[in-house]
Amino acid sequence: MAHIQLKNITKKFGAHTALRNLDLDIADGEFFVLLGETGAGKTTTLRLIAGLEKPDEGQIFIDGADVADWGAAERDVALVLQQYSLYPRYTVRENLEFPLKPKIRRIEPDEIKARVDRVAKTLRIEHLLDRKTDKLSGGEMQRVSIGRAIVRKPRVFLMDEPLSALDAKLREALRTELKNIQMNLGQTFLFVTHDQIEAMSMGDKVGVLNHGRLIQTGTPHEIYNNPRDTFVASFVGSPPMNLLEGKLVSGRAVMAPLNFELPYKAGAAGTDGRALTFGIRPEDVVIEQGAPVEARVHDVENHGVEKILTLRVGDATLRATVPAQTSVAIEDAVRFAWNESKVVLFDQGTGVSLRHAG
Ligand SMILES: Nc1ncnc2c1ncn2[C@@H]1O[C@H](COP(=O)(O)OP(=O)(O)O)[C@@H](O)[C@H]1O
Ligand SMILES: [Mg+2]
Repeated sequence: MAHIQLKNITKKFGAHTALRNLDLDIADGEFFVLLGETGAGKTTTLRLIAGLEKPDEGQIFIDGADVADWGAAERDVALVLQQYSLYPRYTVRENLEFPLKPKIRRIEPDEIKARVDRVAKTLRIEHLLDRKTDKLSGGEMQRVSIGRAIVRKPRVFLMDEPLSALDAKLREALRTELKNIQMNLGQTFLFVTHDQIEAMSMGDKVGVLNHGRLIQTGTPHEIYNNPRDTFVASFVGSPPMNLLEGKLVSGRAVMAPLNFELPYKAGAAGTDGRALTFGIRPEDVVIEQGAPVEARVHDVENHGVEKILTLRVGDATLRATVPAQTSVAIEDAVRFAWNESKVVLFDQGTGVSLRHAG
């Protein structure tokens, strides 16, 4: 059981503010992913929760208890890092036993064996138990590292980009496994990553961190479909959301400086004439004959089930995702429209979505 709350956390390193007024609320049993670019403050957040750093301001609660005066051991959290920290000359079994061996834990040998065997089974590393850890592949080592965290039965799992050192295929496989493990354990996971695909595919909730500030928290669906601002819109999704500058003029979206128009009837109150950024996902750009705008095909990327087209209009480009069987070639003239109901309007000055403002 563990409910984690961070209230108004600020953390500075000298003159640099790594985290600013951070509020986080992670429910018991939730798989929460903190997503942010390098330097956003992800590791700092984990180290604060683990008790390895102290905040300059704000409070951290674990199950409602303010842990300011608790040492790292008392907090009983497990931190899994990108770089696996295994003892190289020992076997996998010994590595898994270590966290259970300290005298103060008073765990009986039978119990230790039972726990190690159970964890090895969960992680499918039973066949490796007698092997020395320096004879393992990267993926196997990371499984053992995760095993070392699980075997302790901590209150919370903190995972600092544990998959980012692995190759793409393994990363994908472990993503699914880790998610399954978390669901089976039913425990609270705070997983941090710079990889938006990882965040969107694993998180029950995702928090987007930018330069030490939490920009948005929501389900992957909310973050994807209703981004709070243009930063989130362009960070999440691959290829990212198209962002086009323009304004609404009586039922039309008039793009400037791009100089084309698209129909847009359901404008929010007071938006006519206001400088806006129109956000449209590539899958909501529609290529069809008779559509309102002409563009040139600037590039075609083949992705198996679909193609990603880069369209050129004047000096600008935008992306469109189309079915693989669509036959297009570079420099073809095509016409496009957009799925009006999927357009997100952002204030051009602040970049904040009109749905989130006010
Ligand atoms: N011990 C430290 N001393 C000085 N600056 C630090 C220290 N730890 C982190 N920082 C700075 O704080 C910011 C956030 O770092 P970090 O939490 O490691 O980001 P992330 O894990 O998202 O890449 C970075 O600008 C980093 O350089
Ligand atoms: Mg980090």
